[in-house]
Amino acid sequence: MSAPSIEAWLADTQGWIERELEGRLRRTQGVPPVLAEAMEYAVLGGGKRFRAALVRLVARWHGSSDADCAAAACAVEMIHAYSLVHDDLPCMDDDDWRRGRPSCHVKFGEANALLAGDALLTKAFEVLAESETARNAAAVVALARAAGDAGMVGGQVLDLGLSGHSARRGDVERMHALKTGALIAVSAELGAIVAGAGAGVRAEAIEWGRSLGRCFQAVDDLLDVTADKAALGKTPGKDAAQDKPTLVAVLGLEATRLYAEEEAERARQLARRWGGPFEPTGLQMVDFLLHRRS
Ligand code: IPE
Ligand code: IPE
Ligand code: MG
Ligand code: MG
Ligand code: MG
Repeated sequence: MSAPSIEAWLADTQGWIERELEGRLRRTQGVPPVLAEAMEYAVLGGGKRFRAALVRLVARWHGSSDADCAAAACAVEMIHAYSLVHDDLPCMDDDDWRRGRPSCHVKFGEANALLAGDALLTKAFEVLAESETARNAAAVVALARAAGDAGMVGGQVLDLGLSGHSARRGDVERMHALKTGALIAVSAELGAIVAGAGAGVRAEAIEWGRSLGRCFQAVDDLLDVTADKAALGKTPGKDAAQDKPTLVAVLGLEATRLYAEEEAERARQLARRWGGPFEPTGLQMVDFLLHRRS
């Protein structure tokens, strides 16, 4: 079997995950209409779906099917969407534009956006825990750790704490590893868990995801400086305006580009280690992250 191109892989993943998310959201009865609408607004119809693509790619790479990894991919995208809703709130980054349209709180009000985020976080674990893959307890634990106090939420707290202060490179790297890297690493790990891979492959998946996460957030910090609003789908220039602790702030543009390239190379080496028919897609995934414009 020849591997699909990354463009085909991502386009196909976007269609697949959108259907899977919509089905899981719409089958819940008794949700107050404004909450259902705000949740759908936050999670459907946008985003690169990179985390879902990573779950799916690693699962396929290690012999699993789309049906087996759908719940895990939905859970990660729900947590990611909730993190964006909360990240945009006035008490955090105060951004009124997300995925090329008004942020959730602009459309539904702050309290509804906060609660839609809460509900998406909770729904993610409902979806994962009810899935029938035999390994879902391990998946639930891994996702909870990546999303919580020593994961994404912890990283967001570090981000806010460092804002307005002069940070060192190590502070920014630790913060990136938690706020962004943890959810990307667990996406790769969930693919391995769902596929029933052993501890060795699971550790390699985490390592691959951590490199991808470092590359991903370095590029996010670069795009905040270099991209325009239409391409980015969110407000550029916010990091400098809010005196955010970014890699660009501590290293400058050129060294941040180099950092992203070095992490991309590390991720390519890990993809080559797994080899097989999905190696080309894995390698293209790295290049997609490095060269993305949004
Ligand atoms: C943005 O993530 C938030 C960060 C962790 C930097 P993405 O760039 O993956 O956002 P979407 O899902 O494509 O909108
Ligand atoms: C946010 O990082 C990471 C999250 C956990 C949502 P940023 O604040 O840099 O993300 P953007 O640039 O607003 O998407
Ligand atoms: Mg932020
Ligand atoms: Mg932000
Ligand atoms: Mg950013």
